[in-house]
Amino acid sequence: MRIVNVSLGPRSYTIKVGSDLLARLGPDCARLGLGARCAVISDLNVARRFGKAARHSLSKAGFDPVSITVPAGETSKSLKFVQGCYDELARHRLERSSFIVALGGGVVGDLAGFVAATYLRGIAFVQAPTTLLAQVDSSVGGKVGVNLKAGKNLVGAFHQPRLVLCDLDALRTLPLREFRAGLAEVIKYGIIYDATLFDRLERELPKILGRDPKTLGALVARCCEIKAVVVGEDETESGVRAILNFGHTIGHALEAISSYGNYLHGEAISIGQVAAAELSRLALGLPGRDVDRIRTLFRRAGLPTQVTLNPARRRRLFNAMRLDKKVSGGEIKFVLAKRIGKAVWGQKVPEWMIEEILDPG
Ligand code: GLY
Repeated sequence: MRIVNVSLGPRSYTIKVGSDLLARLGPDCARLGLGARCAVISDLNVARRFGKAARHSLSKAGFDPVSITVPAGETSKSLKFVQGCYDELARHRLERSSFIVALGGGVVGDLAGFVAATYLRGIAFVQAPTTLLAQVDSSVGGKVGVNLKAGKNLVGAFHQPRLVLCDLDALRTLPLREFRAGLAEVIKYGIIYDATLFDRLERELPKILGRDPKTLGALVARCCEIKAVVVGEDETESGVRAILNFGHTIGHALEAISSYGNYLHGEAISIGQVAAAELSRLALGLPGRDVDRIRTLFRRAGLPTQVTLNPARRRRLFNAMRLDKKVSGGEIKFVLAKRIGKAVWGQKVPEWMIEEILDPG
């Protein structure tokens, strides 16, 4: 098992990466001194596969878990389902000392985390991510929240988990489309922070797609390490944490104009990252061969790299981008890559450049 620490003073916590970790959920929660009552929030698919194991481990360690399930998919990340979770927590009389386990992918983690951040003005929560995307990104760092029709993650909070358990066994049965979507966040860390990781991804992609356990363990741990360093420096995104949003300005807008139905998050940010690489070429002089390497790696990972938009959808995309949280004073700010392994944030980009990369023909 690999251990990564997130250093945030009194809000510090441990990320564990390894096999058979769900069986240790109960004992690990007991070590944190959490109250007896808890709720395991997951989606219907995950609950079917891992719910029993999670609840069994918790009960054996002396906890009294209840289950709350939401439908699978991005549409559950909404205020309607937040309300449903509150009602269930109140019905089961969860108290201030109680805690929530977020068992599932990014949607469940963000939803359950937001519920934990706000129920009774905040209770503890533990992340048990079961998708690659959630293990390498969304379960770490305390960003929790839900979508509005107008945009992704427009309602939320910073609420750090008390523990993150990345059980690699869950990745064995993850549907291929979801596994590929998770790779979009993995590739992101290579582009924004770690050129050696990017080289390794280029070399080891077949082993990664074959889900070799040793390779995956090292990969998940490296991504968590990078995220822990960045979040440790800038918990609430007043500076460097913004680099983690590489590709997300266009990606989030694409998700919003597709009513959160067409693209998985990883697919949308794959398109967004290739677009951001093109913008980096125009605005910062990122070499064309690096843009090609980036596009090729996403393609080899089986991810989409471009989108065709008619004029009406393009207008909607621009409007959605203007609603992004990264807009300040009405200006859309981008995270761009200076080179592979080094990103800069807060970059103003003229609209004609965005038009150009969205319509290369
Ligand atoms: N997923 C971006 C962040 O956690 O800051």
